[in-house]
Amino acid sequence: MSESILPVKPRLCARVESGAAGQVELHTPTDVLDVEPPEGVGTEAFRGLLERLDGAATLPELAADTGIETDTVARILAPAVAWGLIEDGAEPEAGSGPAALSRLEDVLNRLLEDLVFAGPFWRTLLTEPEALPPNVYYGFGLENWFFLFRENEFDSAVLALPESAEVRGMLNDFYHEEHRHDDVVVRAFAYLGIGREDLLRARPLPTTTALIKMLSWWARTDPLFFLATIGVLEGRLDPDGDGSDGKVAYDSFIAACDKVGLAAEFVEPLRAHARLNAGHDHGAVSRELFACVPGVDADTESRWHAKAHLFMETYAAFFNGIASYYRDPARPLLRTSEL
Ligand SMILES: [Fe+2]
Ligand SMILES: [Fe+2]
Repeated sequence: MSESILPVKPRLCARVESGAAGQVELHTPTDVLDVEPPEGVGTEAFRGLLERLDGAATLPELAADTGIETDTVARILAPAVAWGLIEDGAEPEAGSGPAALSRLEDVLNRLLEDLVFAGPFWRTLLTEPEALPPNVYYGFGLENWFFLFRENEFDSAVLALPESAEVRGMLNDFYHEEHRHDDVVVRAFAYLGIGREDLLRARPLPTTTALIKMLSWWARTDPLFFLATIGVLEGRLDPDGDGSDGKVAYDSFIAACDKVGLAAEFVEPLRAHARLNAGHDHGAVSRELFACVPGVDADTESRWHAKAHLFMETYAAFFNGIASYYRDPARPLLRTSEL
């Protein structure tokens, strides 16, 4: 057993007693175990070490107190750790949740600029929106619908988050607020002759599916990281953004739709969805949730920073996949099993 899995400050979960023959015994609620010192360690020093395992001393401190070398202390403790007889008395070092999120947001924001906004979809949308054919705008709406329709797949996975009742409550509110947003957006496609039944027979782009599946996986395996992605996915909505005819644009996509003069029948349902999100301040959900996260340790934080790259690569691929597929007007808007 490697020393790295030994506790920092070992605490023995058993009583140290002497047997009839003077041997050392460990008494647990269900068992009595005879234990022997390793070669070169006297019985009394061995007993002294076991009695000293109160969760307050590190291995080198135990070695100094008992006169047993640190390596030997580790060798004595390793099997006891494997038997579940040793706990760690050391408090894990953790920084505050909001501070960890803010450092992660720095990484996410930089990646958002480098990978997402510099990519073919957003760069063109932001600088020359008229250069994108209408199908790319429609495709963005459609792929968003696929994403919203499957959103419950990842949002539901964190509803039972065991760590905090407060976070659970907030996530339940968020789930309710998001519920059936696909039904708001679907109205945009009537203009294209596409209804909900048609969408149910169609499939999303592989790049959209990759984003959905990755979020579903993280919601199940690393829920706090998943919660940190919500702020990015919801975007920073601007309730004062300029759109056409004095309407609020809310986000850069709707501002671009207004600028190129896409049909109101298509744009207004999307604007209604953005208005709903802005009304619930969904851009701030991650921050509100992390305000209730008591602590994040350094290892977790560096794992999140590494994961942020994969998340943003997948997020960029989602947008660029839309630009790449829907750019060709010969390609059908809906990909069904016949296509
Ligand atoms: Fe939504
Ligand atoms: Fe939302």
